[in-house]
Amino acid sequence: MKAVVYTEYGPPDVLRLKEVAMPTPADDEVLIKLEAASINRSDWEGLIGKPLYARIGGLRKPLRHILGSDIAGRIQAVGANVKRFQVGDEVFGDILWRKGGFAEYVCARENSLVPKPAGMTFEQVAAIPQAGVIALQGIRDKGQVRPGRKVLINGAGGGGGSFAIQLAKSYGAEVTGVDNTGKLDFMRSLGADHVIDYTKEDFTRNGKQYDFILDLIAHRSVFAYKRALRPNGRYYAVGGSVAMLLRILILGSLISAVTGKKIRVLAVQPNLKDLVHLTKLYEAGKVVPAIDRRFPLSEVPEALRYLGEGHAKGKLIISMEKNA
Ligand SMILES: NC(=O)c1ccc[n+]([C@@H]2O[C@H](COP(=O)([O-])OP(=O)(O)OC[C@H]3O[C@@H](n4cnc5c(N)ncnc54)[C@H](OP(=O)(O)O)[C@@H]3O)[C@@H](O)[C@H]2O)c1
Repeated sequence: MKAVVYTEYGPPDVLRLKEVAMPTPADDEVLIKLEAASINRSDWEGLIGKPLYARIGGLRKPLRHILGSDIAGRIQAVGANVKRFQVGDEVFGDILWRKGGFAEYVCARENSLVPKPAGMTFEQVAAIPQAGVIALQGIRDKGQVRPGRKVLINGAGGGGGSFAIQLAKSYGAEVTGVDNTGKLDFMRSLGADHVIDYTKEDFTRNGKQYDFILDLIAHRSVFAYKRALRPNGRYYAVGGSVAMLLRILILGSLISAVTGKKIRVLAVQPNLKDLVHLTKLYEAGKVVPAIDRRFPLSEVPEALRYLGEGHAKGKLIISMEKNA
């Protein structure tokens, strides 16, 4: 089969489209013929080896040679102990811890997959897993966002942010999205009431305060985040450098103890219930995966470069249809 392979951390040029051996499913796995995969910032981080957590399992060289976590396709073969699926089923899911989605076929444990709803395309469901679950666990679970709450989403024009804006609006919040100049109209089109261009304005220094901040890309001081929170407000960081996340973990609990403002790191727990819930929200017309561009498998390096250079609005899709 064809796959996009890398053996060293670096820019997109280190990726190569190659013929590799077909994977064989273990007893609790299925083999999937991929129809679509989506790109996440975690793929970019896994490519360049930064932040440091992207090197878990492979400090000097990548442990897994094929990136790609969000996958959608048809089951081609099932392992001996697989109970929930059979050959021909259409499925999607998140395989962050094993990866391999930038290929024609991949193996995945049955407990990382859910059935694709008939009313959604492979591309739409491939856009959901990582970004959708980050947004759901941030906005619904940690934010407990309710009507009238003031919510700020930092990095709102990317994958997780594009779901988070829509979710926060569906719960009745007043939403501010922060991202670069080229993504301001995009954030408005998803429902953001206010937008801030991070290249021109620091949201922690404009005197405004929020009940909940979801930060996809933390890089300010913990004290700056405290300043941007209303009394009893909550701030959750999803991504950022390891040093930044450590500072939030350590100083955040001290600040919470003294001020009542909560400053924490969101450790996302991938689970099947949330994936299904996100498809129900789509069916109810509340959340639509925002797809910017589609690329064939051979153009995974271009897709990653597009994200790395700051152009991607919402989600990028690797579409097997585009290979045909
Ligand atoms: N905590 C967990 O358990 C967990 C699990 C999975 C993933 N993650 C992490 O979640 C993070 C976000 O994922 P994602 O897929 O939503 O990323 P994404 O699609 O790349 O979106 C991030 C957005 O932030 C923008 N941005 C960059 N610098 C900014 C700044 N200084 N201020 C405001 N916005 C800025 C980016 O714009 P530009 O295009 O200008 O760069 C981009 O639009 C990743 O770091 C990933 O590793 C965490």
